[in-house]
Amino acid sequence: MNIILLGPPGAGKGTQAQRIVRKQGLIQLSTGDMLRAAVASGSDLGKEAKKVMDAGQLMPDALMIRMISERIDQPDCRGGFILDGFPRTIPQAEGLDRMLAEKGLRLDSVIEMKVDEEALVQRITGRYTCAKCGAGYHDSFQRPQSDGVCDHCGGSGITRRADDNEETVRTRLEAYRAQTEPILPYYGEKGILRSVDGMASIDEVADQIETALAAA
Ligand code: AP5
Repeated sequence: MNIILLGPPGAGKGTQAQRIVRKQGLIQLSTGDMLRAAVASGSDLGKEAKKVMDAGQLMPDALMIRMISERIDQPDCRGGFILDGFPRTIPQAEGLDRMLAEKGLRLDSVIEMKVDEEALVQRITGRYTCAKCGAGYHDSFQRPQSDGVCDHCGGSGITRRADDNEETVRTRLEAYRAQTEPILPYYGEKGILRSVDGMASIDEVADQIETALAAA
């Protein structure tokens, strides 16, 4: 099964993608994580990505389409994947359609996570990940069972993203409204768009997504 999780910054795409990975064994393809890995490597791409991401803007479409295409060709994606953060523009959605057709693949479902924008700033500014395994947490909404210790790997270091401050979040939300929201009718017309209430609890959202995917 190949799916897209769509929603504004902080909607819970990464959180739910990690759940689906653990439950269904699909591979999570997060373009944000790929770009952050490039930043950490210090490559030319990483240097460009850091400027764009810190400003809350979007990277060029052609680059993102190529990045995802190369990743989908890796053998681990043969059992199905979750696109998290891609596509983000109509040209990316069209590029994805062309690329999947060339590879003999198809999209099974696009899940829209509907959220209240004001809650997103609180979600994003309280977010952190385990520095060792990347598991996601939140200061208020998703604390580990034992304070300061990752539930999944036992690691004790944490990382916060450079773009997780209020000013950048507001610019990212504007980019979402202007460039990403127009994708929704694109998938609506294809009959594969399902919406879930992203304001429900993390467990309830996971249940809604599971129901939506079972119907796909
Ligand atoms: P990216 O990394 O994709 O960031 P984003 O889309 O802004 O999304 P986030 O990762 O911020 O949010 P999320 O929806 O995954 O929320 P999460 O699950 O963590 O992109 C970063 C940047 O890279 C972009 O700005 C752009 O510059 C560039 N980029 C990436 N892809 C690109 C592309 N295709 N084209 C061009 N540029 C691209 O949840 C947030 C917090 O809330 C967590 O702490 C979580 O615990 C908590 N939470 C989650 N769900 C709930 C819930 N139901 N109730 C309460 N708390 C919850």
